[in-house]
Amino acid sequence: MNQKLKRIRQIFIALILIAAVEGFSSCEKNSFAPPAVDPNQTWHFQTDIQPIFTANCITCHNGKTQFPDLRSGKSYASLSSGGYITPPGETSILYHQITTNSAHIPRSTDEQKLEVLYWINQGALNN
Ligand code: HEC
Repeated sequence: MNQKLKRIRQIFIALILIAAVEGFSSCEKNSFAPPAVDPNQTWHFQTDIQPIFTANCITCHNGKTQFPDLRSGKSYASLSSGGYITPPGETSILYHQITTNSAHIPRSTDEQKLEVLYWINQGALNN
């Protein structure tokens, strides 16, 4: 009888341990990792923003069919003269397009969208 109780207690403790380990690991799996884009870092048009356009946008925004023209060397003039990058970033046409137009949303990552936002809020410079 005593032996049986001990056995039950052992199984009980083992179950609690398994539950605890499972709990910790599932916590780890679901924990939210904030995107690693620093709003206080200086974001540069030539080295941070243009590569996003070159990789994801210029098949259409090539100066022939869709405007703004997002090709390297053309994009800054096209964006600024067309009024696409007027601060604040949140209401600029460029940021609005890539975050709300369902055809555009998948063409840049969450990190890239934030880089565009911060670059505009830092003055949308041709830096
Ligand atoms: C598959 C073709 C295609 C690609 C790739 C594409 N776009 Fe577009 N874009 C369009 C079309 C078509 C329009 C105009 C119709 C619309 O608003 O959906 C447009 C409109 C826009 C506008 C608004 C123009 C205006 O006058 O209001 C912006 C800004 C823009 N795109 C930015 C981008 C950016 C930035 C990328 C890359 C991350 C991109 N697009 C990739 C097809 C594309």
